[in-house]
Amino acid sequence: MNKNEDLLNRREASGLGGGQARIDKQHQQGKLTARERVTLLLDEGSFHEIGQFVEHRATSFGLEKQKFPGDGVITGYGTVHGRLVYVFSQDFTVLGGSLSETHAAKICRVMDMAMKNGAPLIGLNDSGGARIQEGVVSLAGYADIFYRNTLASGVIPQLSVIMGPCAGGAVYSPALTDFIFMVEETSYMFVTGPNVVKTVTHEEVSSEDLGGAKAHAEKSGVNHFTAANDVECLKKVRDVLTYMPQNANEKPPCPTQYSFSASKLESIGNILPDNVNVPYDIRKVVDCVIDDNSFREVHEDFAKNIVVGFARLEGQTIGIVANQPAALAGVLDIDASRKGARFVRFCDAFNIPLLVFEDVPGFLPGTDQEWRGIITHGAKLLYAFSEATVPRITVITRKAYGGAFDVMNSKSIGADLNFAWPTAEIAVMGAKGAAEIIFKREIAEAADPQAKWLEKEAEYAEMFANPYRAAERGIVDDVILPSETREKVIAGFKMLENKAEVLPKKKHGNIPL
Ligand code: HXC
Repeated sequence: MNKNEDLLNRREASGLGGGQARIDKQHQQGKLTARERVTLLLDEGSFHEIGQFVEHRATSFGLEKQKFPGDGVITGYGTVHGRLVYVFSQDFTVLGGSLSETHAAKICRVMDMAMKNGAPLIGLNDSGGARIQEGVVSLAGYADIFYRNTLASGVIPQLSVIMGPCAGGAVYSPALTDFIFMVEETSYMFVTGPNVVKTVTHEEVSSEDLGGAKAHAEKSGVNHFTAANDVECLKKVRDVLTYMPQNANEKPPCPTQYSFSASKLESIGNILPDNVNVPYDIRKVVDCVIDDNSFREVHEDFAKNIVVGFARLEGQTIGIVANQPAALAGVLDIDASRKGARFVRFCDAFNIPLLVFEDVPGFLPGTDQEWRGIITHGAKLLYAFSEATVPRITVITRKAYGGAFDVMNSKSIGADLNFAWPTAEIAVMGAKGAAEIIFKREIAEAADPQAKWLEKEAEYAEMFANPYRAAERGIVDDVILPSETREKVIAGFKMLENKAEVLPKKKHGNIPL
C-alpha cells in the first residue's frame, strides 16, 4: 500500500467512529451520527477537520486496547450561510462520546481558535460524561472547557446543541453558553439521573420527565429551542445564527432583501380589545411591526408572560422583549424576569438593538414569589436594561403600572426613545386599586361606599389612564398611532445607529444573581 492510500484508509477508519454496529444502533434510536450532524449543520463541503487522528493516551482498565482515531469527538471549522463557525461534535459510538483528557483538549483547541478569530462556537453534545476509566484527568478536561466557556462569554456567540445524554457536571458547559437547543425524546440534561434521584429523594421519574427537552423548555428554562429531531434542530441552529454577529466587535449581518406586507398596518389598530382587562396576544402586535416572518421566539414555552426573541426591521436584527397580556396578564414574575434579563444581556453583548413592547400590570404578588426572591430576580431585569448600551426603544401599548413601568426599558434607566399608543395607561397602579388607597376615608364615610369608589376610580382613570400625563412630562417622547409604530421605530433605530454610550469604568458590575 502506498502512503497516500494509507492516509485514505486511515481517514476511512476515523470516519467510522466506533464501528458500523454502533452507528446502526445510533440510527435505530432516531439519532444521526456525529459526522452526519456536522455535515448537516455546515454549508456543503465547507467542513475542515482538525485532530482527526488524535488518540487517547490512557492505559487503565484495558483502554490501551480501545483506541479510536479522533477519540470520540469531531472538531474543526466550516461555514454556515457563508460565515465562519467552529464546531465540535461528540461521537456517541466511541466509548459513549465520553470525555477523555484528549477529547477535552480537542474541544479546547477549537474554542481557543474561535476566540482568537472571532467566530461562533457550536457544540453538538452527545456524551455519557467524563470517561470513567480516566478518572480525574477527564474531570480536569471538563473544567478546562468550563473556563473557556466563561472567557468566551460575551466575546463570541456560543450555541450548545444537546442531541443525546448530557449528565453530571457535563451540563455546565452548555449552561455557560448563550443558547441551548434540545431534541425531543433523544436528548436529556440533568445533574443526576433518575436512579440517583430515586435513591436520594425517593422520586420515580423517567429521564425524559426529569431532563428532557420539554421539561427544560417549560419548567426549568434551561432549554431555549426545542426540535422534533436532529435534522430540524440543526436547521434551527443555522437559522438562528443568521441573526447574530460573528463576535462582540461586529454588528449582525443585514440582508438587503426583506419583505413587509403593508396591509398589516391596517390591522394593528384592531388588536387591542376595548376592555383593558381582556387579554390579547402581543405577538400579533410584534408581527405587524417587523419584517414578514422574521420573528424567532426564544424560550417559547417558558415564562410565557414575557415574550423574547430575534426579529428584523428592514433586514436589521433586533431583539424583542414584550410583556404578554395573554399569559398571567403579562405580569412580571421570577421566571419572566430571569428570561427577559438573560436575553437583554445577550443582545447588549452582541450589538443587537432592543425593541420593547410594554403592557404590564406590575410584579406578581404573593408569598411564593416573595419567598423565592422576586426582589432579587426582578432586579436582574432592571439591571440588565440599565446597563445595556445598545439602541433601546419602548412602545407602551396599554398598561405601564408601578415598578414594572420603570423596569421595562423606561427612559430613566437609559432607554433612548419611549413611545406610547393612545391606549396607554401610565400610572402607579390601576385606577381601582389606586382609588381604594388614596380615597379610603372618603369611600368609608360615604353614604354609598360602592358608588363613591366607582366615582373616585373614574376620577383617577380620567387623570392617569392615558399617555398624556407622561407625555406632558417628557416621560414618553411621543404618542403615536399603532399604524405609525413601524415607521417610528425604524426611524428611531436609524437615528441611533451610531450611538456610543460608555459606562463607568469598573472591573465588572455585580448583577443580583
Ligand atoms: C466511558 C462510557 C461512558 C463513560 C458510556 N460509555 N458512558 N465509557 N465513560 N462515562 C460507554 C459504554 O461502556 C458503552 O460502551 C458505550 O459507551 C455506550 O453506552 P451504553 O451504556 O451501552 O449506552 P446506553 O444504554 O444508550 O446508555 C447511555 C448512558 C450510559 C445513559 C449515557 O452509558 C451511562 O449511564 N453512562 C455513564 C454515565 C455517567 O455516569 N457518566 C459519568 C457522569 S459524571 P460499549 O463498548 O459497550 O459500546 C461526569 C462528571 C463530569 O460526567 C464532571 C464535570 C465537572
